[in-house]
Amino acid sequence: MSLIALGVTGGIGAYKAVEVARGLQQRGHEVVAIMTRGAQNFVGPVTFEAITRRPVITDQWAAGMNSSVEHVALAGSIGLLLVVPATAHTIAKLALGLADDFLSSLALATTAPLMVAPAMNTHMLEHPAVQQNLQILAARGAHIVEPGAGYLACGWVGKGRLAEPDDIVEAAHRLLTPPRSLAGRRVVVSAGPTYEDLDPVRYIGNRSSGKMGIAIAAEAARRGAVVTLVLGPTSTEPPAELDIVRVRSAADMHAAVLGASETADVVVMAAAVADYTPASVEGEKIKKGDADLSLRLVRTPDILRELGARRGEAAWPVLVGFAAETSDVVARAREKLAAKRVDLIVANDVARRDIGFEADANEVTFVTAEGDEPLPLAAKTSVAASLWDRVERLMASRPLPAAAS
Ligand code: CTP
Repeated sequence: MSLIALGVTGGIGAYKAVEVARGLQQRGHEVVAIMTRGAQNFVGPVTFEAITRRPVITDQWAAGMNSSVEHVALAGSIGLLLVVPATAHTIAKLALGLADDFLSSLALATTAPLMVAPAMNTHMLEHPAVQQNLQILAARGAHIVEPGAGYLACGWVGKGRLAEPDDIVEAAHRLLTPPRSLAGRRVVVSAGPTYEDLDPVRYIGNRSSGKMGIAIAAEAARRGAVVTLVLGPTSTEPPAELDIVRVRSAADMHAAVLGASETADVVVMAAAVADYTPASVEGEKIKKGDADLSLRLVRTPDILRELGARRGEAAWPVLVGFAAETSDVVARAREKLAAKRVDLIVANDVARRDIGFEADANEVTFVTAEGDEPLPLAAKTSVAASLWDRVERLMASRPLPAAAS
């Protein structure tokens, strides 16, 4: 079980953070409470001290606090930084990376995941500044526990009320104890671009960073699957615990994916595979001349389509593809779903700059035979979790594969 830093900021929901601390302890976690100045107007540190049985951090400058540079020391030992309630002000500070008190300094110093439970007046929550700050945090991988709707302390009725303490505890606990829902399953994920060589120094490539596919592979591993990641040339580092097969060209990827997929329960083709490759690779560097140069390109095999054809009427493996489009995104994805005979297409609008190739966030729609499911803008890691939740539902609806029955 983990040590959780519980940041309590100055909102009326601060008293509910006491219940959150208690709930986390009941789930077996240790809690250290950090209170901002504002929080202490709503509830006293002694309450948290009595519940957590640890000193409460209220001041960056308290005596002894800097003998071990406490925010740095704590940063390395926590498994989660959970902010309950998160005021508009604290959300803005976290988004900007300000560090004027212990909590905000800790947020910069730690590599532990960040979870925030916002609570504020409805109009404050809807303000574009707050919405933008929440999106910045989400895009960086922070987990947002959505506020609920209801009667607010300020007299308004609307969205902005702190999520129920039990729901916050559940969300934090789930994050720290990954489900083993894919234990015993074999998963193949392709990610990144392919490079099609023209000569010994030049190639045709694309802008895929591989981040989405790597997040999908990492999430499957977190859920207990045995994962093979077939990865094109990219500088994004995949987690070491994955079985990684490095490839360069569409032909390499074709061979690696088809080979690894023979025993797979699920194949996710997140790679941006080149559709065309030079008809021949020059052995020597191509020299320029005065005339224009034409290249002859030939089609590469469509790996996903082959997987769909190879599966035929069988139920396994579950096949997931991506559709990177610049217009009519969902309609085109639906065409691909049918043409490639796959179970799920993740439709992605690559014309938008804030999402897609190099970004850390993505806004996608899941397209299946059952319909379209648009997802809100979220970190690629969250999109990966939603994808596996959806794929697990698809898996549950089919007969068990031979290996698992
Ligand atoms: N794909 C594949 N083999 C290829 C090309 C694409 O397996 N040679 C997979 C991709 O990994 C992705 C899906 O097919 O999961 C869709 O790729 P995309 O490039 O968006 O569409 P295409 O089918 O190539 O069609 P178009 O380029 O015409 O949009």
